[in-house]
Amino acid sequence: MDRFRIDGGHPLHGTVQINGAKNAALPLLATAILTDETVVLHHLPNLGDIRTMCRLLSHLGAEWRGGETITVRLAGVERAEAPYEIVKTMRASTLVLGPLLARCGRARVSLPGGCAIGARPMGLHLQALERMGGRITIENGYIVAEARRLRGIDYTFETVTVTGTENIMMAATLADGTTTLHNAAREPEIPDLAQCLTTMGAQIHGAGTSDITIQGVTRLRGVEHTIIPDRIVAGTFAIATAMTGGDVTLQSMVPGHIEALLEKLAAAGAKIFPMTDALRVVGPPRLEAVDCTTAPFPGFATDLQAQFMAAMTIANGSSVINETVFENRFMHVGELQRMGANIQVQGSTAVVKGVPRLRGAPVMATDLRASASLVLAGLTAEGSTEIERVYHIDRGYEQIETRLGALGATMTREHGDDGH
Ligand code: EPZ
Repeated sequence: MDRFRIDGGHPLHGTVQINGAKNAALPLLATAILTDETVVLHHLPNLGDIRTMCRLLSHLGAEWRGGETITVRLAGVERAEAPYEIVKTMRASTLVLGPLLARCGRARVSLPGGCAIGARPMGLHLQALERMGGRITIENGYIVAEARRLRGIDYTFETVTVTGTENIMMAATLADGTTTLHNAAREPEIPDLAQCLTTMGAQIHGAGTSDITIQGVTRLRGVEHTIIPDRIVAGTFAIATAMTGGDVTLQSMVPGHIEALLEKLAAAGAKIFPMTDALRVVGPPRLEAVDCTTAPFPGFATDLQAQFMAAMTIANGSSVINETVFENRFMHVGELQRMGANIQVQGSTAVVKGVPRLRGAPVMATDLRASASLVLAGLTAEGSTEIERVYHIDRGYEQIETRLGALGATMTREHGDDGH
């Protein structure tokens, strides 16, 4: 297995291009299930999770080709099934459930099971599909769903769920009648998906607000769509710049998508210069401690909590970080402590007392964003940091070592003996 070696202490300088958003691309790839025509997506990131979704589409019977621009066509569904082997490597595979049920009237999708960051149930996806007339049973670890044609409903999500909103929004596009979703997720990936579906002929209003209305249609056509930039990648580079005292311009990104983070970085002493589709961040000699609480969009993204915590470990003063979205998203704490961070966790709250410097150490990546926080910690640490299990990082960050290297970081990938 590959590992990263980082020699810390180099401020980041220069310009970085932000790639297309992983979490927008995954549901957008699933839209190919809703039509027998061709779906073309531009700005597709080159990531492990995207390859997994393409593998799943092939399993369903789709043909696809391309790289940064991908052409997918699912002329006929050969297997309305997401097998365990694929779902266990990526929970977002469950995004095919709604579209498969809507197109084929049946779907068999493996239950995703537990996850490093929490239980992550999908009961709300199933409850909404049942209300739409889906007959759902759990058989041998699989969700088995059937419905001749789904029907529109008025449904309130008990908890804000991103993929739940996406799954039901996609299913509702081909349902009989109108679906109204309340307490829907407002993450930027939702209006991006709605825009793509609308170009395909869907009737959707209110995406990006808590109330979304979808009038079902009988068929959707092909589409050509450009994926929005990855706000979490952009946020990660912004934090890296601020904590290394660097000066970096992030290009091809939407500053408004990470406003909650930018407010925190500014309060911590970074200078933030937002532009239409770019952002310049200038880090101070040392950040000041700032508290933060995660929340659904437009709140502070849970997917940036670990990286922000890494920044706070070397800030001046103490900060309190509350994680309200997932119950177990502090896997990075133990590893950051191994690098000299002073963090106390109680339940869903972490109190971080800033230290002047972290020290390099061998550490282990545990999930995608936790791994990113270790990279950031390594960039500022004294000495050398070795990060094992970097396949977690490769799921969500395109060639992070090359991009950080181009900004002045000393970071190399060492290939493991097994070729992974
Ligand atoms: C999406 O996951 C993202 N994944 C996650 O990104 C992100 O962390 C998360 O949203 C929150 O922003 C994709 O978009 C592919 P949720 P999702 O359903 O949709 C509870 C990353 O690092 N819940 O919004 O699976 C759930 O337990 C990843 O890129 C229920 O209780 O998350 C959690 O506490 C990781 N019942 C909360 O809702 C349900 O049926 C929010 O989860 C569904 C969810």
